[in-house]
Amino acid sequence: MDIDNIRNNFIKKIEVITSLEELEKLDVIYLGRSGKINELLKGIKELSPDKKKSAGSSINQIKQFITIELDKKRTLILNESEKSIAVDVTLPPSSTQKGSLHPITIAVSEITEIFNKIGFIRMSYPEVDWEHYAFEVLNMPVTHAARDDFETTFLSGSSDKKMGKMVLTPHTSNGQVREMERLQGRPPIRMINIGKCYRPNWDATHTPMFHQFEGLCVDKDITIAHLKGTLNFFVKSYFGDKTEVRLRPHHFQFTEPSFEVDITCTMCKGTALVDNKKCNICKSGWLELGGTGMVHPNVLTAGGIDPTMYSGWAFGFGIERVNMMKYAIDDIRSYYSGDIRFLSIF
Ligand code: DAH
Repeated sequence: MDIDNIRNNFIKKIEVITSLEELEKLDVIYLGRSGKINELLKGIKELSPDKKKSAGSSINQIKQFITIELDKKRTLILNESEKSIAVDVTLPPSSTQKGSLHPITIAVSEITEIFNKIGFIRMSYPEVDWEHYAFEVLNMPVTHAARDDFETTFLSGSSDKKMGKMVLTPHTSNGQVREMERLQGRPPIRMINIGKCYRPNWDATHTPMFHQFEGLCVDKDITIAHLKGTLNFFVKSYFGDKTEVRLRPHHFQFTEPSFEVDITCTMCKGTALVDNKKCNICKSGWLELGGTGMVHPNVLTAGGIDPTMYSGWAFGFGIERVNMMKYAIDDIRSYYSGDIRFLSIF
Protein backbone atom coordinates (compact mmCIF):
# COMPACT_ATOMS: atom_id res chain seq x y z
CA MET A 1 0.00 0.00 0.00
CA ASP A 2 1.56 3.21 -1.06
CA ILE A 3 -0.67 5.90 0.35
CA ASP A 4 1.87 8.63 -0.31
CA ASN A 5 2.10 7.62 -3.96
CA ILE A 6 -1.67 7.73 -4.34
CA ARG A 7 -1.78 11.13 -2.69
CA ASN A 8 0.97 12.60 -4.90
CA ASN A 9 -0.58 11.19 -8.05
CA PHE A 10 -3.98 12.56 -7.11
CA ILE A 11 -2.52 16.04 -6.49
CA LYS A 12 -0.75 16.04 -9.85
CA LYS A 13 -3.92 15.00 -11.67
CA ILE A 14 -6.36 17.36 -10.00
CA GLU A 15 -4.07 20.34 -10.54
CA VAL A 16 -4.43 20.19 -14.31
CA ILE A 17 -8.18 19.58 -14.39
CA THR A 18 -10.28 22.42 -15.82
CA SER A 19 -13.68 20.87 -16.52
CA LEU A 20 -16.40 19.24 -14.45
CA GLU A 21 -16.44 16.17 -16.70
CA GLU A 22 -12.76 15.51 -16.06
CA LEU A 23 -13.29 16.09 -12.38
CA GLU A 24 -16.12 13.56 -12.19
CA LYS A 25 -13.90 10.99 -13.93
CA LEU A 26 -11.18 11.58 -11.35
CA ASP A 27 -13.79 11.22 -8.60
CA VAL A 28 -14.70 7.77 -9.93
CA ILE A 29 -11.07 6.71 -10.24
CA TYR A 30 -10.39 7.50 -6.59
CA LEU A 31 -13.71 7.26 -4.74
CA GLY A 32 -15.75 4.98 -7.07
CA ARG A 33 -16.85 1.46 -6.14
CA SER A 34 -13.77 -0.09 -7.70
CA GLY A 35 -11.70 3.03 -7.15
CA LYS A 36 -8.31 3.32 -5.54
CA ILE A 37 -9.61 3.96 -2.02
CA ASN A 38 -11.86 0.91 -2.04
CA GLU A 39 -8.94 -1.17 -3.33
CA LEU A 40 -6.89 0.00 -0.37
CA LEU A 41 -9.74 -0.89 2.04
CA LYS A 42 -10.04 -4.37 0.56
CA GLY A 43 -6.31 -4.91 1.14
CA ILE A 44 -6.72 -4.32 4.89
CA LYS A 45 -8.11 -7.85 5.35
CA GLU A 46 -4.73 -9.33 4.53
CA LEU A 47 -2.82 -7.29 7.09
CA SER A 48 -1.86 -8.46 10.54
CA PRO A 49 -4.17 -7.26 13.35
CA ASP A 50 -1.67 -4.74 14.72
CA LYS A 51 -1.21 -3.09 11.28
CA LYS A 52 -4.97 -3.10 10.48
CA LYS A 53 -5.73 -0.23 12.84
CA SER A 54 -3.12 2.24 11.61
CA ALA A 55 -3.79 1.35 7.95
CA GLY A 56 -7.51 1.97 8.46
CA SER A 57 -6.97 5.41 9.88
CA SER A 58 -4.47 6.42 7.14
CA ILE A 59 -6.91 5.29 4.45
CA ASN A 60 -9.69 7.33 6.04
CA GLN A 61 -7.42 10.35 6.14
CA ILE A 62 -6.54 10.12 2.46
CA LYS A 63 -10.21 9.51 1.58
CA GLN A 64 -11.18 12.65 3.45
CA PHE A 65 -8.40 14.63 1.80
CA ILE A 66 -9.48 13.52 -1.69
CA THR A 67 -13.16 14.26 -0.99
CA ILE A 68 -12.36 17.79 0.23
CA GLU A 69 -10.04 18.54 -2.69
CA LEU A 70 -12.63 17.32 -5.22
CA ASP A 71 -15.27 19.58 -3.63
CA LYS A 72 -12.99 22.59 -3.62
CA LYS A 73 -12.16 22.08 -7.28
CA ARG A 74 -15.84 21.63 -8.14
CA THR A 75 -16.72 24.99 -6.56
CA LEU A 76 -13.81 26.65 -8.29
CA ILE A 77 -14.83 25.37 -11.74
CA LEU A 78 -18.48 26.41 -11.21
CA ASN A 79 -17.47 29.92 -10.13
CA GLU A 80 -15.16 30.31 -13.09
CA SER A 81 -17.85 29.21 -15.54
CA GLU A 82 -20.33 31.75 -14.13
CA LYS A 83 -17.82 34.52 -14.51
CA SER A 84 -17.16 33.63 -18.09
CA ILE A 85 -20.82 33.79 -19.26
CA ALA A 86 -20.76 36.76 -21.60
CA VAL A 87 -23.23 39.52 -20.70
CA ASP A 88 -24.27 41.71 -23.58
CA VAL A 89 -25.82 44.77 -21.97
CA THR A 90 -26.99 46.09 -25.32
CA LEU A 91 -29.40 43.18 -25.92
CA PRO A 92 -33.12 43.94 -25.51
CA PRO A 93 -34.57 42.35 -22.35
CA SER A 94 -36.26 38.99 -22.69
CA SER A 95 -40.02 39.55 -22.74
CA THR A 96 -41.73 39.62 -19.36
CA GLN A 97 -45.39 40.13 -18.47
CA LYS A 98 -45.99 43.83 -18.00
CA GLY A 99 -48.30 45.17 -15.31
CA SER A 100 -50.66 48.07 -15.90
CA LEU A 101 -52.67 50.62 -13.98
CA HIS A 102 -55.99 49.45 -12.56
CA PRO A 103 -58.99 50.55 -14.71
CA ILE A 104 -60.32 52.65 -11.82
CA THR A 105 -56.98 54.43 -11.46
CA ILE A 106 -57.09 55.15 -15.20
CA ALA A 107 -60.69 56.40 -14.98
CA VAL A 108 -59.82 58.66 -12.01
CA SER A 109 -57.05 60.35 -14.01
CA GLU A 110 -59.23 60.72 -17.09
CA ILE A 111 -62.11 62.24 -15.11
CA THR A 112 -59.74 64.56 -13.23
CA GLU A 113 -58.23 65.74 -16.51
CA ILE A 114 -61.61 66.38 -18.15
CA PHE A 115 -62.75 68.56 -15.25
CA ASN A 116 -59.38 70.29 -14.89
CA LYS A 117 -59.82 71.57 -18.43
CA ILE A 118 -62.88 73.55 -17.37
CA GLY A 119 -61.41 74.87 -14.16
CA PHE A 120 -62.52 72.28 -11.61
CA ILE A 121 -60.03 71.45 -8.86
CA ARG A 122 -59.61 67.86 -7.72
CA MET A 123 -60.18 67.39 -3.99
CA SER A 124 -60.07 64.33 -1.72
CA TYR A 125 -62.25 64.51 1.35
CA PRO A 126 -62.26 61.90 4.14
CA GLU A 127 -63.66 58.47 3.46
CA VAL A 128 -64.15 58.07 7.21
CA ASP A 129 -66.16 61.11 8.18
CA TRP A 130 -68.61 62.48 10.73
CA GLU A 131 -72.35 61.98 10.24
CA HIS A 132 -72.47 65.77 10.30
CA TYR A 133 -70.78 66.04 6.87
CA ALA A 134 -72.15 62.81 5.44
CA PHE A 135 -75.82 63.57 6.29
CA GLU A 136 -76.72 66.40 8.64
CA VAL A 137 -75.47 69.35 6.57
CA LEU A 138 -76.92 67.73 3.46
CA ASN A 139 -80.42 68.28 4.77
CA MET A 140 -80.70 64.68 5.98
CA PRO A 141 -81.39 64.83 9.73
CA VAL A 142 -81.15 61.68 11.87
CA THR A 143 -84.88 61.10 11.64
CA HIS A 144 -84.99 61.29 7.88
CA ALA A 145 -85.91 58.10 6.05
CA ALA A 146 -83.49 58.85 3.22
CA ARG A 147 -80.65 58.01 5.59
CA ASP A 148 -81.78 54.37 5.59
CA ASP A 149 -81.22 54.14 1.85
CA PHE A 150 -77.50 54.31 2.39
CA GLU A 151 -77.32 51.50 5.01
CA THR A 152 -74.29 53.21 6.40
CA THR A 153 -71.45 51.52 8.29
CA PHE A 154 -70.88 53.23 11.64
CA LEU A 155 -67.59 53.17 13.52
CA SER A 156 -67.89 52.15 17.13
CA GLY A 157 -66.87 54.32 20.03
CA SER A 158 -66.60 57.70 18.38
CA SER A 159 -69.45 60.12 18.92
CA ASP A 160 -69.39 63.86 19.15
CA LYS A 161 -72.17 66.14 20.32
CA LYS A 162 -72.12 68.30 17.21
CA MET A 163 -70.60 65.90 14.67
CA GLY A 164 -72.44 62.71 15.64
CA LYS A 165 -70.83 59.33 14.99
CA MET A 166 -68.12 58.48 12.54
CA VAL A 167 -69.12 56.60 9.39
CA LEU A 168 -67.55 55.03 6.36
CA THR A 169 -68.89 57.67 4.06
CA PRO A 170 -71.60 56.28 1.74
CA HIS A 171 -71.13 59.00 -0.89
CA THR A 172 -68.72 61.76 -1.87
CA SER A 173 -71.36 64.40 -1.10
CA ASN A 174 -69.66 64.74 2.32
CA GLY A 175 -67.12 66.89 0.44
CA GLN A 176 -69.69 69.58 -0.43
CA VAL A 177 -69.87 71.47 2.87
CA ARG A 178 -66.24 70.64 3.63
CA GLU A 179 -65.27 72.47 0.42
CA MET A 180 -67.51 75.44 1.30
CA GLU A 181 -65.83 75.58 4.72
CA ARG A 182 -62.35 75.30 3.19
CA LEU A 183 -63.13 78.43 1.17
CA GLN A 184 -64.64 80.07 4.27
CA GLY A 185 -68.01 80.38 2.58
CA ARG A 186 -66.54 82.51 -0.21
CA PRO A 187 -67.36 81.26 -3.73
CA PRO A 188 -66.50 80.72 -6.55
CA ILE A 189 -66.33 76.97 -6.04
CA ARG A 190 -65.49 74.51 -8.79
CA MET A 191 -64.66 71.22 -7.14
CA ILE A 192 -64.38 67.65 -8.26
CA ASN A 193 -64.17 65.41 -5.18
CA ILE A 194 -63.06 61.87 -5.98
CA GLY A 195 -63.06 59.21 -3.32
CA LYS A 196 -64.01 55.82 -1.98
CA CYS A 197 -67.52 55.17 -0.68
CA TYR A 198 -68.97 52.29 1.33
CA ARG A 199 -72.39 50.62 1.36
CA PRO A 200 -72.93 47.02 2.45
CA ASN A 201 -74.17 45.52 -0.83
CA TRP A 202 -72.72 42.81 -3.04
CA ASP A 203 -74.20 41.92 -6.43
CA ALA A 204 -73.59 42.52 -10.13
CA THR A 205 -74.05 46.29 -9.72
CA HIS A 206 -72.82 46.84 -6.15
CA THR A 207 -69.62 46.27 -4.20
CA PRO A 208 -69.26 47.32 -0.53
CA MET A 209 -66.46 49.69 -1.55
CA PHE A 210 -66.76 51.73 -4.72
CA HIS A 211 -65.74 55.15 -6.03
CA GLN A 212 -67.66 58.31 -6.78
CA PHE A 213 -66.85 61.69 -8.23
CA GLU A 214 -68.73 64.66 -6.93
CA GLY A 215 -68.96 67.92 -8.82
CA LEU A 216 -69.79 71.14 -7.04
CA CYS A 217 -70.11 74.55 -8.62
CA VAL A 218 -71.20 77.61 -6.63
CA ASP A 219 -71.08 81.21 -7.74
CA LYS A 220 -73.34 84.17 -8.46
CA ASP A 221 -76.07 83.45 -11.04
CA ILE A 222 -75.30 79.78 -11.54
CA THR A 223 -78.18 78.03 -13.31
CA ILE A 224 -79.25 74.65 -14.64
CA ALA A 225 -77.92 75.78 -18.03
CA HIS A 226 -74.37 75.68 -16.59
CA LEU A 227 -75.10 72.26 -15.15
CA LYS A 228 -76.30 70.90 -18.49
CA GLY A 229 -73.36 72.44 -20.31
CA THR A 230 -70.90 70.87 -17.88
CA LEU A 231 -72.57 67.45 -18.01
CA ASN A 232 -72.56 67.60 -21.80
CA PHE A 233 -68.87 68.43 -21.82
CA PHE A 234 -68.06 65.57 -19.47
CA VAL A 235 -70.21 63.00 -21.23
CA LYS A 236 -68.89 63.81 -24.70
CA SER A 237 -65.28 63.86 -23.47
CA TYR A 238 -65.57 60.57 -21.59
CA PHE A 239 -68.00 58.51 -23.70
CA GLY A 240 -67.56 60.07 -27.12
CA ASP A 241 -68.98 62.92 -29.18
CA LYS A 242 -72.19 61.18 -30.22
CA THR A 243 -73.40 60.51 -26.66
CA GLU A 244 -76.40 62.59 -25.61
CA VAL A 245 -77.49 63.64 -22.11
CA ARG A 246 -80.93 64.13 -20.57
CA LEU A 247 -82.13 65.15 -17.13
CA ARG A 248 -85.06 63.37 -15.50
CA PRO A 249 -86.86 64.85 -12.47
CA HIS A 250 -85.99 63.04 -9.24
CA HIS A 251 -85.63 63.69 -5.52
CA PHE A 252 -82.55 64.18 -3.36
CA GLN A 253 -82.53 65.86 0.03
CA PHE A 254 -79.58 68.08 -0.78
CA THR A 255 -80.70 69.45 -4.16
CA GLU A 256 -83.79 71.30 -5.29
CA PRO A 257 -84.77 70.74 -8.02
CA SER A 258 -83.15 67.32 -8.36
CA PHE A 259 -82.58 65.16 -11.42
CA GLU A 260 -81.29 61.89 -12.54
CA VAL A 261 -78.86 62.08 -15.44
CA ASP A 262 -79.25 59.65 -18.32
CA ILE A 263 -76.99 59.18 -21.33
CA THR A 264 -77.71 57.45 -24.61
CA CYS A 265 -76.76 53.78 -24.34
CA THR A 266 -73.20 53.12 -25.47
CA MET A 267 -74.31 49.80 -26.99
CA CYS A 268 -77.35 50.75 -29.15
CA LYS A 269 -76.45 54.48 -29.41
CA GLY A 270 -79.86 55.48 -28.08
CA THR A 271 -81.90 53.52 -30.64
CA ALA A 272 -82.92 50.80 -28.12
CA LEU A 273 -82.26 48.28 -30.89
CA VAL A 274 -79.35 45.97 -31.64
CA ASP A 275 -79.70 43.88 -34.84
CA ASN A 276 -83.41 44.74 -34.88
CA LYS A 277 -83.88 43.30 -31.40
CA LYS A 278 -84.41 45.20 -28.16
CA CYS A 279 -81.03 46.26 -26.71
CA ASN A 280 -80.50 44.11 -23.63
CA ILE A 281 -78.16 46.58 -21.96
CA CYS A 282 -80.61 49.51 -21.71
CA LYS A 283 -83.97 48.32 -23.13
CA SER A 284 -84.95 51.97 -23.68
CA GLY A 285 -82.01 53.66 -25.41
CA TRP A 286 -80.97 55.43 -22.17
CA LEU A 287 -78.70 54.48 -19.27
CA GLU A 288 -78.75 56.12 -15.85
CA LEU A 289 -75.53 57.90 -14.90
CA GLY A 290 -76.32 59.28 -11.42
CA GLY A 291 -77.86 62.11 -9.42
CA THR A 292 -77.65 65.86 -9.72
CA GLY A 293 -79.49 69.09 -8.98
CA MET A 294 -79.32 72.68 -7.78
CA VAL A 295 -77.71 72.84 -4.33
CA HIS A 296 -80.42 73.17 -1.66
CA PRO A 297 -80.40 76.58 0.17
CA ASN A 298 -80.02 74.73 3.50
CA VAL A 299 -76.79 73.12 2.27
CA LEU A 300 -75.37 76.48 1.17
CA THR A 301 -76.32 77.94 4.54
CA ALA A 302 -74.65 75.03 6.37
CA GLY A 303 -71.47 75.81 4.43
CA GLY A 304 -71.62 79.50 5.42
CA ILE A 305 -72.80 80.69 1.98
CA ASP A 306 -75.70 83.13 1.64
CA PRO A 307 -78.28 81.41 -0.63
CA THR A 308 -79.85 84.75 -1.55
CA MET A 309 -76.56 85.85 -3.14
CA TYR A 310 -75.22 82.59 -4.51
CA SER A 311 -76.54 79.52 -6.23
CA GLY A 312 -74.92 76.30 -7.37
CA TRP A 313 -75.29 72.79 -8.62
CA ALA A 314 -73.85 69.43 -7.65
CA PHE A 315 -73.74 65.92 -9.00
CA GLY A 316 -72.47 62.56 -7.81
CA PHE A 317 -71.64 59.67 -10.16
CA GLY A 318 -70.10 56.24 -9.58
CA ILE A 319 -66.71 55.71 -11.22
CA GLU A 320 -67.14 51.95 -11.62
CA ARG A 321 -70.59 52.69 -13.07
CA VAL A 322 -69.40 55.12 -15.76
CA ASN A 323 -66.51 52.80 -16.59
CA MET A 324 -68.86 49.82 -16.90
CA MET A 325 -71.06 51.84 -19.25
CA LYS A 326 -68.11 52.90 -21.36
CA TYR A 327 -66.71 49.39 -21.78
CA ALA A 328 -69.99 47.40 -21.58
CA ILE A 329 -68.87 45.55 -18.42
CA ASP A 330 -71.77 43.66 -16.88
CA ASP A 331 -70.48 42.81 -13.40
CA ILE A 332 -68.91 45.43 -11.11
CA ARG A 333 -67.28 42.68 -9.03
CA SER A 334 -64.84 42.03 -11.88
CA TYR A 335 -62.99 45.21 -10.89
CA TYR A 336 -62.04 43.69 -7.56
CA SER A 337 -61.57 40.07 -8.62
CA GLY A 338 -57.84 40.47 -9.31
CA ASP A 339 -58.43 38.49 -12.51
CA ILE A 340 -55.66 39.38 -14.93
CA ARG A 341 -57.79 38.41 -17.94
CA PHE A 342 -60.24 41.16 -16.95
CA LEU A 343 -57.60 43.72 -16.02
CA SER A 344 -55.75 43.31 -19.30
CA ILE A 345 -58.80 44.51 -21.29
CA PHE A 346 -57.96 48.10 -20.37
N1 DAH B 1 -74.98 61.35 -3.14
C1 DAH B 1 -75.91 60.74 -4.06
C2 DAH B 1 -75.76 59.22 -3.99
O1 DAH B 1 -74.72 58.74 -3.66
C3 DAH B 1 -75.65 61.19 -5.48
C4 DAH B 1 -75.92 62.63 -5.68
C5 DAH B 1 -77.17 63.04 -6.05
C6 DAH B 1 -74.92 63.58 -5.49
C7 DAH B 1 -77.46 64.38 -6.26
C8 DAH B 1 -75.19 64.93 -5.69
C9 DAH B 1 -76.47 65.30 -6.09
O2 DAH B 1 -74.28 65.86 -5.54
O3 DAH B 1 -76.72 66.61 -6.30
O4 DAH B 1 -76.69 58.54 -4.29
